Amino acid sequence: MEWVNIALPKGRLGEKVYQMFKQAGYACPAIEEENRKLVFENPEAGVRYFWVKPSDVAIYVERGAADVGVAGKDILLEYVPDVYELADLGVGKCRMCVAGKKDFRDDRSRTLRVATKFPRIARNYYSAVSRDIDIIKLNGSIELAPLLGLSDVIVDIVETGRTLIENGLEPKETIVDISARFISNKVSYKFKNDAIRRMAQCLAGLPETNQGGSV
Ligand code: PRP
Repeated sequence: MEWVNIALPKGRLGEKVYQMFKQAGYACPAIEEENRKLVFENPEAGVRYFWVKPSDVAIYVERGAADVGVAGKDILLEYVPDVYELADLGVGKCRMCVAGKKDFRDDRSRTLRVATKFPRIARNYYSAVSRDIDIIKLNGSIELAPLLGLSDVIVDIVETGRTLIENGLEPKETIVDISARFISNKVSYKFKNDAIRRMAQCLAGLPETNQGGSV
């Protein structure tokens, strides 16, 4: 029998996404037991799940360690992995924004200092409007940067907006809407085509012709 190896993003989004796989007919009872294992199999359904750090899912899929996976559009735009994007799962919705202090006014005669975990997205956004920027790459707690004068603005994910509000910041512009995407390794898509296409269709709940993506 042929297994489909699935990389799920560990955490709240992953739990939600697993429930979608379950509803789509790919349950794996072992995964619902409370433990610290990272690999779970259901031989009857032919699926093997891995819990992966969300920002690493695309790497596992690109290199074929997983056949398919679920990654945020933010990660796909930032790392541009060589994978197929087969469906928008419509969960994990948030937006990539420019945010700054309430009283921030852009002075275009100066280079704009931008703190972010997403340097490619930030660079592409500002180069499209010909704005000179200096990227300050951080790995988390990005909201601190403008508060401490490390940057003028941030480019970061806004979900509820609470983190911004509670730190005296506000969204200035939306760069792009984000949601979780079902992605496939390109070779796996060729050799496990029926299984992967069926999975994408069940997950998206759409007829084949309405599948999004670049295949
Ligand atoms: C993300 C993002 C914001 C927060 C936004 O952080 O970087 O800090 O969520 O959510 P909200 O609009 O609902 O408040 P994450 O939890 O991924 O942590 P990190 O970036 O600090 O690592």
